[in-house]
Amino acid sequence: MRLIIENDPQQVARWAADYIIQAIHRKAATSEAPFVLGLPTGSTPLATYRELVRRYQLGEVSFANVITFNMDEYVGLPEEHPESYHSFMWNNLFSHVDIKREHVHILNGNAVDLEAECAAYEEAIVAAGGIDLFMGGIGEDGHIAFNEPFSSMSSRTRCKTLNADTIRVNSRFFEGDIRQVPKMALTVGVATVCDAREVMILASGPKKARAVQMGVEGAYSHVWTITALQTHPKGILVCDEAACDELKVSTYRYFKDIEKNNL
Ligand code: GLP
Repeated sequence: MRLIIENDPQQVARWAADYIIQAIHRKAATSEAPFVLGLPTGSTPLATYRELVRRYQLGEVSFANVITFNMDEYVGLPEEHPESYHSFMWNNLFSHVDIKREHVHILNGNAVDLEAECAAYEEAIVAAGGIDLFMGGIGEDGHIAFNEPFSSMSSRTRCKTLNADTIRVNSRFFEGDIRQVPKMALTVGVATVCDAREVMILASGPKKARAVQMGVEGAYSHVWTITALQTHPKGILVCDEAACDELKVSTYRYFKDIEKNNL
């Protein structure tokens, strides 16, 4: 696993956006096939999306040959609801770049048959050639996508009941009212994320420090689904200083040292 430690959330965003842009260019240099990008929602990736839009406007990247798959979506929330992950993605990224509408995939949390929707999503990922790079955030309890503690490490896209902590944390997007937060979501599984050829998880702020500590120093466990990254051949955790607050000094120094000559 690589652990990249940047000073603040802005530098995390710049590092992540650079990495995505380079990956898109690298694939385009050798193949006509679209670049397949997995994407998260949440506050953490917002700065990365702003940076990607800025770089697109500067002509440094195009999304015309990029296919996206989002990690998750609430169940039962209308697509046009301002807090749906559909709204989030169009408002913060897709509407501002040259991505083709038909290249965007977001789970439909209002599908009549949710199980069929999830199975079709997995099939669509395979049909697209698999995900080249899955970017993700991390919950305070170490979840990736909506794979809450005790999710199977071999889980696939499915319907999940959200736990009380996640509902409480996410209530900030619903006027602080937990009653308004959907209680279920469709989410890619831990194995869906780990099938990607590269996985890059972003974490910033002190609230993520415990999850980062468990992800980097903790034992592989379904209690902290972020630990799945430890088994990925190309897993990267990009953190700011505050998110590293709980790491051992030796761990912190190790990664600072080993990454100092890497791009
Ligand atoms: C939700 C999302 C996750 C996200 C997490 C953290 O639970 N399903 O994908 O990583 O929130 O969000 P934030 O970046 O806002 O802290």
